Parts: sequence; structure tokens; C-alpha cells
Amino acid sequence: MNEIHESNRRHWDRAARKWEALRDEDGLWRRCHKEPDLAFEGGALELLREIAGDDLTEKDVCLVGSGDNYTAFALAGLGARVTSTDISQRQLDVASDRARQLGLSIAFVQADAANLQSLENSSFDLVCSTNGFFVWIADLQGVFNEVSRILRPGGFYVFYDIHPFVRPWKDQIRPIEMEKPYWETGPFGDSERETFEFNWTLADLLNPLAKSGFILFRILESPAEDSRFWQGYSYVPGTDNRLLDWKENPRAGLPVWLTVAVQKPPAAPVDGHAA
Ligand SMILES: C[S@@+](CC[C@H](N)C(=O)[O-])C[C@H]1O[C@@H](n2cnc3c(N)ncnc32)[C@H](O)[C@@H]1O
Repeated sequence: MNEIHESNRRHWDRAARKWEALRDEDGLWRRCHKEPDLAFEGGALELLREIAGDDLTEKDVCLVGSGDNYTAFALAGLGARVTSTDISQRQLDVASDRARQLGLSIAFVQADAANLQSLENSSFDLVCSTNGFFVWIADLQGVFNEVSRILRPGGFYVFYDIHPFVRPWKDQIRPIEMEKPYWETGPFGDSERETFEFNWTLADLLNPLAKSGFILFRILESPAEDSRFWQGYSYVPGTDNRLLDWKENPRAGLPVWLTVAVQKPPAAPVDGHAA
């Protein structure tokens, strides 16, 4: 068992009710299955559509570190057979109750993303993770190995997350001020919450993907499209478009989203025919 992941699991179990109440304030979770744009950032939905088409019917999709599960609801709304995994059973309980209210059929499986042993080899067409996931992960190689294992040959792993270039700066609009060097990646312990977080670099994220055997399909590095990113809101629209202009807000001159699509190599042809 990964002790860091275990500590983070306990935190998320404790925090689940608080996040449930917060997300109930705007109730956006009720809309994601009909408005999938609400659940994606950084061009990830467009990339998914390019890879898998508009209709995900007959596609087996697994979400790792599913959290609020807005993405699971959106993917189910697009027709996919969705398996939602998270290390926190309590986060999954909240999501499962919401899925029931929305009439969505989603399989919820409690699992550390670095140990998905309850999921079979080569059982998914697509695996996704979304923002705020990697920061909790001590063992990136373990996660990418597992993602590769559960994907069918030719399947894709698509993720978007906070771009590593966001991390070194103090969270203030002006002046732009460095808080720590890019290469200081953690673990950053929080003694009160008993959590451990990581600020991985681009190299930290991409090299283990290659080591797991993935083929790079696309990388996107995008700015925030909505000022909510700079105003600390997760989903509700921001109110100050000036924050999107790098001359007003210098950090807006760097990418805030990193979106990556990688492919598990397709099976080798047998006697001239695709396996
Ligand atoms: C900040 S949330 C973000 C997740 C999701 N993108 C969202 O928008 O809600 C982080 C989630 O990752 C989960 N998590 C943390 N460590 C994990 C791990 N090792 N394996 C799987 N899930 C993990 C937490 O339980 C939590 O639900």
C-alpha cells in the first residue's frame, strides 16, 4: 500500500460531505450529462471527439480519480459505458447518489489509480483523468502502467490537468512573484489535513507515459478560456474578463491547462490481418 496515497484517501473521505455541499450550491452537476462542455477544459472534449467521435455508444470508458464526477456524468451523457474510479469511497457514494438522481447508469469502483487490480486487462477503449488529479499522485509510473494495462490495444488515455507552469507562482494577480522553483515538486505535506501533494513538471508527467509504452498523439497547452480560473471558481462563470489579458494579469501569458492524448500501441497484425 502506498502510504502517501492512503493518507490522501483518508483526507478525501473526510472532505467528501463538504465538497458535496459546495457543489450543491450551484447544482451544475445536474447539467453535465446534457452539456458536456461544463465538464472539460483545455480542449479535452474536442480532442476526445476527434479520437472517439461525437457518439460514445459502445465505448467502454474509465475515469480515474473521478472526484466530483462531472466528467463521468458528461461521458455517460455522450453514450459511453462509464466506470468511475476514485480512491475515496465517500466521494464515490456522493457521485453514485447523484448518478441515480440523474438516471445515469455508471459503475463506481473504489481504487487507487496506481492499483486498479479490480479492473481487467484490456477492458477499456478510453481512460480519462481530469484537473486536480496528478497533484495527489506520488506514483505516476504506477498510475500510467495501470492505465496502459486496462486499455485495449489501440485505446487512448486522454487527460487534462493544471499546467505545471502554473505552480511556481504566488496566487496573486500583481505583482507576478515566484513562490518556489519549477523543479521543487514535493511532497508538500499539510499537517492539519494530513495530506501530501505534488507539483510535477512536464518531464515528470511525460517521461513515465513513454516508459509505460504509450505513443504520443497530441499535446495541448492552453490559456484559461474563462476568468473563473483566476478567480478561484471551479465551474461557475468568472466575472472579470480583464484577467484573461496577460498585460493585466501576467500569469495569463503562460498556459494554464495541459491536455495530453496518448495511445496504447495497436495489436500487431497476425498473418497480415489486424489482431
Ligand atoms: C480535487 S479532486 C479532482 C478530481 C476531478 N478531476 C474533479 O474534478 O472532481 C481529486 C480526486 O482525486 C482522488 N484521488 C486522490 N488520490 C487518488 C489516487 N491515488 N487514486 C485515485 N483517486 C485519487 C480524490 O479522492 C478526489 O476525489
